[in-house]
Amino acid sequence: MKKMIPDFVKMKQAGEKISMLTAYDYPSAQWVEEAGIDTILVGDSLGMVVLGYDSTVPVTMEEILHHTKAVRRGATKTFVIADMPFMSYASIDLALMNAGRLLKEGGADAVKLEGGVNVVPIVLALTRAGIPVVGHIGLTPQTANQLGGFKVQGRDIDRAKQLVKDGQALEQAGAFLLVLEAIPRQVAGQISTDLTIPTIGIGAGLDCDGQVLVFHDILGLFERFKPKFVKQYASLGKEAVLALQDFHKEVKSSQFPASEHTFALSDEVVEKLYG
Ligand code: KIV
Ligand code: NA
Repeated sequence: MKKMIPDFVKMKQAGEKISMLTAYDYPSAQWVEEAGIDTILVGDSLGMVVLGYDSTVPVTMEEILHHTKAVRRGATKTFVIADMPFMSYASIDLALMNAGRLLKEGGADAVKLEGGVNVVPIVLALTRAGIPVVGHIGLTPQTANQLGGFKVQGRDIDRAKQLVKDGQALEQAGAFLLVLEAIPRQVAGQISTDLTIPTIGIGAGLDCDGQVLVFHDILGLFERFKPKFVKQYASLGKEAVLALQDFHKEVKSSQFPASEHTFALSDEVVEKLYG
């Protein structure tokens, strides 16, 4: 059954962990739904793992919308969260318009945006307009340059305290879920205990209320680099290359197509036509 927003808090209260996975297209969404994952994120990580950009910065609204629509068609019974691309929530007006599109055109159930205290006015405006918002703090890939690169956040006391404040501010502004990325487990644990809304960790340890990973990372479909927090559960990229090599060899050796893959006329027709 499709989860609804109050279900996530109930899961936290009951101590039931929340599973989240990204998906970017129709088949991946179908598989994630079939696996029983609690919620799907159409992450802007799609820019890197599907579109081949070097970062999530170039991802556009049109790209996220295009993929969100496909995910919705593949997973009709799963709660779908769509990432707001970099600069698509740079002002309240932009945020309202773009988040509205992700729900109305994309079919998403909620949107996610990166930032802490600095995005509170945006989160307030969206939730007041009736758009459910997921927060995302810690390592925020859209602004990784400002953070000094893809580094663990909250190792020092000031930053750890700031992350707790960010979490509280987002909850107060109306966010119903909070992604914690690349944060020491003690800091993530403190934020999780402190907040009523569930936290979903990625590289944030076991004390979060749920966990999220990138589809292509856990299946071994993206191997350009592998962060410490990724657990790879399969090597589908390698298997794919083996299958493709088999096809290549069978074409070269005339083993493919075999008779079962071939249409043929009856002997009688062949005789009349070409005999
Ligand atoms: O874009 C993404 O996949 C994400 C998750 C890693 C949280 O934001
Ligand atoms: Na993202």
